[in-house]
Amino acid sequence: MEKIKILAIVGSLRKGSYNRQLALIAKDILGDRVDFKLLEYYDVPLMNEDIEFPAPEPVKRVREEVKSSDVIWFFTPEYNHFFPGVLKNLIDWLSRPVNDEEPPVIDGKPAAISGISLGMSGTCIAQDHLVTLLSFLNMDIMNHPKVTIPHATEQLDSNGKLTLKEESYSYLKEQANAFLDFIKRRKCLCTPSED
Ligand SMILES: Cc1cc2nc3c(=O)[nH]c(=O)nc-3n(C[C@H](O)[C@H](O)[C@H](O)COP(=O)(O)O)c2cc1C
Repeated sequence: MEKIKILAIVGSLRKGSYNRQLALIAKDILGDRVDFKLLEYYDVPLMNEDIEFPAPEPVKRVREEVKSSDVIWFFTPEYNHFFPGVLKNLIDWLSRPVNDEEPPVIDGKPAAISGISLGMSGTCIAQDHLVTLLSFLNMDIMNHPKVTIPHATEQLDSNGKLTLKEESYSYLKEQANAFLDFIKRRKCLCTPSED
């Protein structure tokens, strides 16, 4: 049986991003049960309808990666109680139809959201905004369990690497397993019945 393809989209372009590190810990938790890939999108231009058609090469690339994945797992920071503009820009590109026949590549895709921040909100306010956007775009969001990790600096080792406290790690593990169940249920619904 083919492995589920999870595409992780991190809402931070920062090299040492805690959210990127969180995504890599999630990848580790899931291990060889899935194909887990991080989407690189630093080269996607700012949305500008003057350059929308034909789509710029980086936009074609990210759309192809989203299209060929089964599900998306977002890992988002919180910027001023919102998710970052780079993530909104990427989603705006993904939200547009590729051509007259095909729907946008994110239409109907199952999605999960997690996040880690320096502040006490743990990205929960940013995540609520992201849910509003993704629901509008007809994504199939797993709303529970959510992972919102506050006070990132308390979860680092002496080299500044994200290690996660036991409690945060087990929340992430619980979410990863719940997401797999969520995806499997969606796949069952897609299997044609006998009659
Ligand atoms: C423009 C900006 C706004 C921020 N606003 C918030 C905020 O509203 N809440 C919060 O907890 N942290 C806030 N932060 C701090 C982020 O949590 C911190 O920079 C975090 O490390 C970003 O995620 P990353 O490590 O994945 O890049 C903000 C940072 C920036 C650059």
